[in-house]
Amino acid sequence: MKITLKVFCFFMVVLLTQSCTDDNKSTYIDYTDEEYAQLTQRLDLPSELYDYSPEFDEDFFNNHLEEGNIQSRRSSHKATLGRVLFYDKALSINDLVSCASCHQQNLAFADDVALSEGFDGELTTRNSLPLGNTIGFETSYRSGGGDFGIGGQALFSWDESNSDISSQSKAAITSEIEMGLNMTELVNRLKNQDDYKILFKKAYGDQNILEHRVLEAIEEFVNSIVSNHSRFDLESVAANQDVFSDFNGFTTAENNGKTIYMNNCSSCHSIDHQFTAIATANNGLDFTYEDKGVGEHSSDPSKNGVFKVPFLRNIELTGPYMHDGRFATLDEVINHYSEGIKTHVNLHNNLKNGFYAKQMNFTNAEKSDLKAYLITLTDKRLIADAKFSDPFK
Ligand code: HEC
Ligand code: HEC
Repeated sequence: MKITLKVFCFFMVVLLTQSCTDDNKSTYIDYTDEEYAQLTQRLDLPSELYDYSPEFDEDFFNNHLEEGNIQSRRSSHKATLGRVLFYDKALSINDLVSCASCHQQNLAFADDVALSEGFDGELTTRNSLPLGNTIGFETSYRSGGGDFGIGGQALFSWDESNSDISSQSKAAITSEIEMGLNMTELVNRLKNQDDYKILFKKAYGDQNILEHRVLEAIEEFVNSIVSNHSRFDLESVAANQDVFSDFNGFTTAENNGKTIYMNNCSSCHSIDHQFTAIATANNGLDFTYEDKGVGEHSSDPSKNGVFKVPFLRNIELTGPYMHDGRFATLDEVINHYSEGIKTHVNLHNNLKNGFYAKQMNFTNAEKSDLKAYLITLTDKRLIADAKFSDPFK
């Protein structure tokens, strides 16, 4: 009985999706034997596509946000192509670096060094930003086009210099430090690979390999990397508990840490880690900044030393911390906020007491509770999910 119902549902789904857009339909078309044999020469791809639309815990939408606010469905063929591109070292001029070199899955798509090495060993000017740190990658940023309070949403990069993932990706590929390749050369390289012909055909209906398709497919993959399965999520959204009350599944230390976080950090980094509460701020790392952050591309002096307020999902995995990776551990970060904030001229009001920098002066127990809370934001499902892993054999 159950099986019959399942089969019936499957056909209903097929019928329904076929009447939807091309993108959705393509999810259900398999590769021919010939195509699959070709693809699997270099790649370890499943014969049945992974579904790249976001998976949420059952009660997520009922308890929390409307589906439309979170994330649109993803084209799994485009995301599959994007996954291959993301891991392909042919995106760098000397075949040494891929996006994944600096955005590693086991580190929530960040890396573990202060500054990252580009294709010829030169270092990036800033710390690599994690990608698996939002509840809905696209919609957590201002460019997402979602219909909700815009206030806190940031653009891409520490200084908000990119407005979408396509331009961020193009900047990485063509950067003289990161990948060093021009887009025409990249397209020509991909045209010489038979497996890309198949992947582009599946994603776009024909074999044409075009720059905007390359960037769009990477964007589709990166947008599919969402984090919503941390212990914090399981307590808050999935179990429908008020974030301001103690969580049943948290230890005393974690609940204390949550209260400390709510009182001292959430005014910028947000209460529920869906969107940041404000987009950019100065958090008093120095009295003067060598890297001016948003001020690098603004003539407004109040932007000097102002950087994006980062998301804190998976923060346990994404050290070193801050735009220049100056803090190796979360303990150092917590010490900064406890007793190290500098009264920079642009220091944000949320970190001030009157004119001067706030001294939070946490006790050792408070510091360790705050850290315990931050660690509940780690999403172990994300970092083990096969659909985000390296597809090259
Ligand atoms: C050599 C290391 C390196 C490579 C290769 C690299 N990135 Fe990055 N990525 C970084 C660094 C560093 C930053 C932060 C840049 C900044 O803020 O100035 C970053 C930022 C980003 C961001 C912005 C995240 C946010 O929250 O604002 C995205 C998205 C991104 N990279 C995607 C990619 C993609 C896609 C590729 C491959 C096409 C790629 N990166 C290749 C190092 C790298
Ligand atoms: C005024 C807003 C504000 C408040 C309040 C605030 N932060 Fe931050 N936080 C920032 C900004 C801005 C950055 C990035 C600064 C930079 O790199 O120059 C940051 C960076 C961080 C980072 C590093 C993230 C990364 O990916 O490298 C951590 C961790 C962090 N904050 C934790 C906290 C904690 C814990 C508290 C409370 C004790 C707190 N913050 C309070 C604005 C704030």
